Amino acid sequence: MVLGQSLRKHKTSKKLAALIGPQVSEQCQAVLRRIFDEVKLVDVLDSGDVAHLALMKRPELGVTFTKLHCWTLTRYSKCVFMDADTLVLCNIDELFDREELSAAPDPGWPDCFNSGVFVFRPSVETYAKLLQHCAEHGSFDGGDQGVLNDFFSDWATADISKHLPFIYNLSSIAIYTYLPAFKRYAANAKVVHFLGKTKPWSHALDAKGRQMQAEGAHPSFLLDWWAVYASSVVPMLQEQYGDQPFHTGCVAEVVDGLPVFPVKFHYSHMVTVESTQEQEEENLASFAQALHLSSPELSSQERKQKWEQGQADYMGMDSFDNIKRKLDTFLK
Ligand code: GLC
Ligand code: MN
Repeated sequence: MVLGQSLRKHKTSKKLAALIGPQVSEQCQAVLRRIFDEVKLVDVLDSGDVAHLALMKRPELGVTFTKLHCWTLTRYSKCVFMDADTLVLCNIDELFDREELSAAPDPGWPDCFNSGVFVFRPSVETYAKLLQHCAEHGSFDGGDQGVLNDFFSDWATADISKHLPFIYNLSSIAIYTYLPAFKRYAANAKVVHFLGKTKPWSHALDAKGRQMQAEGAHPSFLLDWWAVYASSVVPMLQEQYGDQPFHTGCVAEVVDGLPVFPVKFHYSHMVTVESTQEQEEENLASFAQALHLSSPELSSQERKQKWEQGQADYMGMDSFDNIKRKLDTFLK
């Protein structure tokens, strides 16, 4: 919903199609139908590849095979696939000038492309070949990105025009050279991708609905996500759900006779959408503040570990200025 609204906000001239699995609630489907031109129900494809997924410590990613269904959207001649955990920051219609398969490098292994954003041509033949490839070779990461990189295996070397600039799929988590480059280039970002386990919608809040745990994603992008969510998605959800409290839209699973929701809180008492610009800014400021306040004091060891896991606290302890100061002291 947030992705769709971000594309609308930046006035895309293209048709928007959403692929959904059967677990999306009726109410959320209704909201999706208002935002997207087409909402297509597809069955869940799961690699079931526990061993490879364990390498990434992401057992939940087997179902990303479902993404391959996008090749069946044959009423369109060319498409740009976008993960639901991406957010568009400006108009990106120019991506349609590119050819299959165009994508941006993956920050973890830049000779692979990241499969969160890519240009492709729907085709039942390609779809069949991809499924066959999955059946015969599986996926080296257990998810779609492994299969797609094997299938479009000359991406890294054959044609530079198929390399999308990183700003079309800017990962929200940090690695190595990331911080200085981030400082230099982040303002040019066109699409931010909240990859990793913690998604913008999985940040925990306290009873007053204000405390958010800062983990992984860059806080200013997180706030961008929440701004779109609060201003243009929550009102639609409220219309659909009426007085009922609502969750992320996934129907609860029953575990040991109890309903378990993937997200632990009600959105309905968390985001208050105020009418004036001023109040909205105040809301966002308090989110921003909560992001800082909630990051607990870390021991130096814990901080090192976080850093190595790509979870630097850019806006706080690990800010560029702090690092520079530290280096200066060292050199002196
Ligand atoms: C990475 C990509 C994501 C893909 C997943 C599984 O996390 O960002 O788009 O679905 O790998 O391959
Ligand atoms: Mn993703």
